Amino acid sequence: MTSDAPGRILEMLRNRQARLSGAEISKVLGISRSAIWKHIRALRREGYQIEAKPASGYRLIAAPSHLTAWEIQAGLETEEIGTKTHLFSNVDSSNTVAFQLALKGASEGEVVVVDSQTAGKGRMGRRWESPTGVNIYLSIILRPLFPPSKIPLITLMTAIACVEAIEEVTQMLPAIKWPNDLLLGEKKLGGILTEADMEMDRINFVIVGIGINVNMRSSAFPPSIRDTATSLREALGRQVSRVLLIQVLLRKFEQWYTRFKEGRGEAIKGRWEELARIRGKEVTIDFMGETVQGHALEIDADGALLVQEAGGEVKRIVAGDVHVSLLPANRHHLFEDDTGVFF
Ligand code: BTN
Repeated sequence: MTSDAPGRILEMLRNRQARLSGAEISKVLGISRSAIWKHIRALRREGYQIEAKPASGYRLIAAPSHLTAWEIQAGLETEEIGTKTHLFSNVDSSNTVAFQLALKGASEGEVVVVDSQTAGKGRMGRRWESPTGVNIYLSIILRPLFPPSKIPLITLMTAIACVEAIEEVTQMLPAIKWPNDLLLGEKKLGGILTEADMEMDRINFVIVGIGINVNMRSSAFPPSIRDTATSLREALGRQVSRVLLIQVLLRKFEQWYTRFKEGRGEAIKGRWEELARIRGKEVTIDFMGETVQGHALEIDADGALLVQEAGGEVKRIVAGDVHVSLLPANRHHLFEDDTGVFF
């Protein structure tokens, strides 16, 4: 956690080609010259190269390659989500860290961002590859005053926020595979792991964990997923700023979470269906050893997928692995899931 003054100084330095005088910083932030100097020294310790000339002021020469909470805060356009950011270089899982913080009373909107994970968690007990310095691994703490049945809707709106953020930053539009996989082509780009602490009728808190492969090279993926996973860098052929993507993602997340809190499930459902293009597709869903096969009808008001089986019975699915034929029924298309199985 950080005071926001260094972040604001950083933002001012970034927005200024010329030097920034201490007097100007002092006026804008309402802090003393010695306080500014203290923050500049702290920024330098974190790896920012800042030139200081007594007569003319400060200039940012270079930023460190690792993520810093200040960097994320500088230019963050949210009211609540991410305004308190906990940044760690290496943890077991950002979701586990966020869960512990929430148990100790962390507030709605606090975010945990990490540079690497030793035990990144994927859905269905899988492992999430989390090498250092290349991808986004973050977890958002939420305390919605809603019943637990609404949690799937949070996962859906998170997927929308991820897709919209990636589109804004890269102009590439990933597809959503129900409930929460982000795909580029047929390859997995990212995923969402929603965990919650709840009672029968109320949510204590929800942890929304987001993993996006940003600058990872395909050679860095383990051989078992090399053909089925991708990153923005692989698709674009250039690096993407993780900081910018995190900032846009948190902004989009806040916009959609506001709609969620306003009870605008229909808007979430509509946008999600538009991006996932699952309606009317033939799907096979594996969940807890059961397989449901049929025609995807729609998402219901709580974010569950309604699937009509061949016999006409409609099943309501709240989680699971879905295998979808995205092409017209008369064309054969194989879909490879995360475990490498073709459907
Ligand atoms: C999936 O299996 O598709 C979900 C992957 C979620 C990975 C993210 S990375 C940040 C957060 N921390 C974790 O341990 N998992 C999630």
